[in-house]
Amino acid sequence: MARILITSAIPYINGVKHLGNLVGSQLPADLYARYVRARGHEVLFLCATDEHGTPAELAAAKAGMEVAEYCARMHRVQARLAQGFRLSFDHFGRSSSPQNHRLTQHFAGRLAENGYIEEVTERQVYSVADGRFLPDRYIEGTCPNCGYEKARGDQCENCTKQLDPTDLIDPRSAISGSTDLEVRQTKHLYLRQSLLKDRLDAWIDGQTGWPILTTSIAKKWLHDGDGLQDRGITRDLDWGVPVKKGDADWPGMEGKVFYVWFDAPIEYIACAAEWAEAQGLGEAAWRRWWRTDEGADDVRYVQFMGKDNVPFHTLSFPATIMGSGEPWKLVDYIKSFNYLTYDGGQFSTSQGRGVFMDQALELLPSDYWRWWLLANAPESGDAEFTWEKFQAGVNKDLADVLGNFVSRVTKFCRAKFGEEVPAGGEMSAAGRALVGELTERLAAYTAHMEAIEVRKAAAELRAVWVAGNEFLQGAAPWTTIKEDRDRAAADIRLALNLVHLYAVISEPFLPDAAARLLEALRTDRRDWPDDLGAALEALPPGHGFVTPETLFAKIDDATRDEWASRFAGTRAA
Ligand code: 2FM
Ligand code: ZN
Repeated sequence: MARILITSAIPYINGVKHLGNLVGSQLPADLYARYVRARGHEVLFLCATDEHGTPAELAAAKAGMEVAEYCARMHRVQARLAQGFRLSFDHFGRSSSPQNHRLTQHFAGRLAENGYIEEVTERQVYSVADGRFLPDRYIEGTCPNCGYEKARGDQCENCTKQLDPTDLIDPRSAISGSTDLEVRQTKHLYLRQSLLKDRLDAWIDGQTGWPILTTSIAKKWLHDGDGLQDRGITRDLDWGVPVKKGDADWPGMEGKVFYVWFDAPIEYIACAAEWAEAQGLGEAAWRRWWRTDEGADDVRYVQFMGKDNVPFHTLSFPATIMGSGEPWKLVDYIKSFNYLTYDGGQFSTSQGRGVFMDQALELLPSDYWRWWLLANAPESGDAEFTWEKFQAGVNKDLADVLGNFVSRVTKFCRAKFGEEVPAGGEMSAAGRALVGELTERLAAYTAHMEAIEVRKAAAELRAVWVAGNEFLQGAAPWTTIKEDRDRAAADIRLALNLVHLYAVISEPFLPDAAARLLEALRTDRRDWPDDLGAALEALPPGHGFVTPETLFAKIDDATRDEWASRFAGTRAA
């Protein structure tokens, strides 16, 4: 048994997330958390809302609310949706928590003591029309790297390049649209991550088996031309973590806050502290997950995120930890994802394009979405959501394959033997062949889940479901029962146990269906089928069950078309 710390990239507070956000971090993180829990490991699975920075300020202003109040409300909304999707966080924290304030100021203080902070008097964009300095995100313009016209001052969402606002071509204020911008002097703190370049490089080289997507992005930032530049970590905003050196004031930095990307990853640590507090546990309870000198040396730490987040997690956050000179845990494995596109274009929060988490749950229960999104996760490249693909995945995989198997087996048993596992007979040749196939497939499935190969795991799971249907078709108990009731009984006994096996191994993908099946089968045995023979005898002869209602409904063409046209436009943010 191992101890596994899992974090999902923490979603911005500014509104409900779309399905592309969900499949890029929170959902696969949940899949993995559920899997490793099922294997008996001790797991701490954390996520939070990312509440600082200009997106929060802009969204609150738009909603006509105080930013603190807006964040509190949106945190509740996101927490409820996370529950709706059965995201099994041990804690869903907030980057605005007192714990994160303290830790962020602590790290800044340590970095300063160790010479990793530089105070820079710099020239910053000031908007005359708006009467204020403009933080990066409040400036829009054309990306100097790819020509995208709506690049933000901090990053181009088209080519993922991290930018400085002054890099932008034709800059304008995102608040007023004004191009009456001036450059004025002000003081800011810089994280001197360039000093840590060699350590970061060696650390990344020392990682084995990281996804190519992760290492290639990290290496690009380390080695391409202006790759690892020192980063400004302070901003002129009201909302955020006030700039302090530990507990002490930081002369000259009055009125400034830390940059959201400085405090956001520190929330991974703070979130553990929030969790401990919520559980009524002491400091040691969370520090054993995070401090290698207090027990975390045997923790395996796995992070999940979209590709645009990779530079911050492979370089900036590790630089914060290394530069602190303190024994905080560094990540062991970074699973990153490409983008999910929506019907030939991008999902977009700002443009309200695509399907958002709240809307999805109004259409169908979470298992439908979980299955399709995970089975089509944008792992090796971008993936596309279309209503046709979604309909096909749901109807074929969930309704025709898994749902149909469960329904045929339980209904046939109820009709011929009653609602209990039938006794008699011995395993048929078809049964033995099935066990042979499942032995291999389960080993493959388990290996893919261990390796967090989400699509491969989904494909293998589906193949396991298909194998059950093929077995049933070949064994044909509805025919054999006429001549050899014992043989039919043995095959149905095996099939009922297979339903149980499906519930156990499908749980990370389909937690609700798994719960319903276990309830119908009147068991809470959830042990992973390492010993397949034993697993297929989990439900002994005479064990009672209830025939479950239809597990998954099919999506008909009319409904699909109605949804497609309903979501063709954009929604008000
Ligand atoms: O891209 C995003 O949604 C960011 N809010 C992710 C932050 S992850 C972490 F560093 F906290
Ligand atoms: Zn660009």
